Amino acid sequence: MANIHQFDVVVVGAGGAGLMAGLYASRTAKTAVISKLYPTRSHTGAAQGGIGAALGNLEEDKPEWHTYDTVKGSDYLGDQDAIEFMCNEAIDAVIELEHMGLPFDRTPEGRISQRPFGGHTNNETGKPVRRACHAADRTGHMILQTLYQQCLKNKVTFFDEYQVLDFIIVNGKAAGVVAVELATGELHTFHAKAVIFATGGHGRIFEVTSNAYAYTGDGAAILLRRGLPLEDMEFFQFHPTGIYKLGILITEGVRGEGGVLINGRGERFMPKYAPTVKDLASRDVISRAIYTEIREGRGVNGQNYVWLDVRPESVIKYAAMDGRTNPDGTPYTITGEQVLAKLPDIIDFCRVYLGVDPVTQMMPIQPTAHYTMGGIPTNKYGEVIIDSQNTVLPGLYAAGECACVSVHGANRLGTNSLLDLVVFGKHAGLKAAEYAKHADFEPLPADPEAEARAQFEALRNGSGKENAFDISTDMKKVMFEEVSIYRNEKGMKAALEKIAEWKERYKHIRVQDTGRVFNTELLNAWELGNMLDVAEVVAACALNRRESRGGHSREDYPERDDQNWMKHTLAWKQDGKVKIDYKPVVVTKYQPKKRVY
Ligand code: FUM
Repeated sequence: MANIHQFDVVVVGAGGAGLMAGLYASRTAKTAVISKLYPTRSHTGAAQGGIGAALGNLEEDKPEWHTYDTVKGSDYLGDQDAIEFMCNEAIDAVIELEHMGLPFDRTPEGRISQRPFGGHTNNETGKPVRRACHAADRTGHMILQTLYQQCLKNKVTFFDEYQVLDFIIVNGKAAGVVAVELATGELHTFHAKAVIFATGGHGRIFEVTSNAYAYTGDGAAILLRRGLPLEDMEFFQFHPTGIYKLGILITEGVRGEGGVLINGRGERFMPKYAPTVKDLASRDVISRAIYTEIREGRGVNGQNYVWLDVRPESVIKYAAMDGRTNPDGTPYTITGEQVLAKLPDIIDFCRVYLGVDPVTQMMPIQPTAHYTMGGIPTNKYGEVIIDSQNTVLPGLYAAGECACVSVHGANRLGTNSLLDLVVFGKHAGLKAAEYAKHADFEPLPADPEAEARAQFEALRNGSGKENAFDISTDMKKVMFEEVSIYRNEKGMKAALEKIAEWKERYKHIRVQDTGRVFNTELLNAWELGNMLDVAEVVAACALNRRESRGGHSREDYPERDDQNWMKHTLAWKQDGKVKIDYKPVVVTKYQPKKRVY
């Protein structure tokens, strides 16, 4: 046990939630942030279009409208107290980021610029409202850079390129984590009073995804193996517009700036599915619409994609048809230069990866696995909950995409992920530091690294014939086909059988590189174990929920069933099986209604 570190608060993950938590905790507590990446390479950097806040800089808006849109967008599965809390904090959160130096785009008057985004509406007219505060189409990147600079200024201690492998729990309380230092292969124990997980999502369990390679569900899987539950894991969001086959995100900001979806027959199809907000309906609605077009033979050239069109002449034509105006009431227009200025990154992606120039050509897109709505159950202060009575595990916190507060319910609105990680990252950091002030360090077990060492050594010394990459490729394909936008019992049962088979094969993996220095093959093999555990819970929870709600669309149970299913799923792994329980949804002001867009 050579490498032992002691901190009041240890944050696992250095994306937006981890950095915000680290920043706030470090103001009063000795804090470390541990990340498997260099912090500014975290996946928050991939978020493009904006962070939601009812600033009302370009037209009337209110936190109450943001709250209701989020409740409705969640298909009434989001906890309304937590949603209201987040939307009320949104304005201050954005202004705080601005004061930290985040270079938001500006209106001509110098205010933070805002654009429309799916599901965000003026609650009186039902029409889209400009609520997404943005820095071109690099909003997540800018948040990450800004928060990292603030953390450095505040002297947060960083352990970059350390993969956390295990969570230490003593006397029913958090006591630290065990990590491997990737540069040396050495294990380290981080002894802590409070631990905050901010480890991101698990989109890499799917074949076509907008998620970074690092998104392998590590935090969720570690806690699952330590006997803790995960919440609402059946809900995974498919973003409507990923680059065909590659999955790379093409921001909803494209449609916010007036872009439209076009099928293989050259028809704009969203007015058929969402007559009021059209191409700015919520993501679940649009992803299903695209799938329906493709399934009914209206994909482009019979393939699994449709077009996204932001060519200025198209934008102007459709804006005129929709009666869209600028804030001053003049007809909405856009030029090629403005498209370039507002959406520089996605234009680069299309030029580089497709040889397509979105200013003059349409982009081929398909829905891409994008966001983990379920995760580690928490309350609105980031405290981790371990049962249906909302019992808190002392000293353990989670925030950001790995957590389920639940503010996104069955379907997240675009821009609410960046908001979630800033608001709940802050509160997790504050709460953890406050807890650490009064708590003692729990004594470490005799060999805290035993479990992590056993897992890693079993993989390093495996003498079987199985290849992790082959298992991983099969898993992603099956998950993308069977536990996808549309789901049914037969497909999900088949997926679960396959997962059991892959888990068995996983025991016989052999890695070629048995070295210790930057052994990414070994690391990927370990991550595959996490993905298999998480994929099993996703499929089991999805099979169990016999209704359609938000991003969970069952062909065999096509209706939302509020009578039986207005409840959150909690899932544990016990004796090799997924055990499921439920807890009620918090409803304050808004009784469930049929969603109409
Ligand atoms: O479309 C986007 O820019 C994605 C944003 C989000 O997931 O919130």
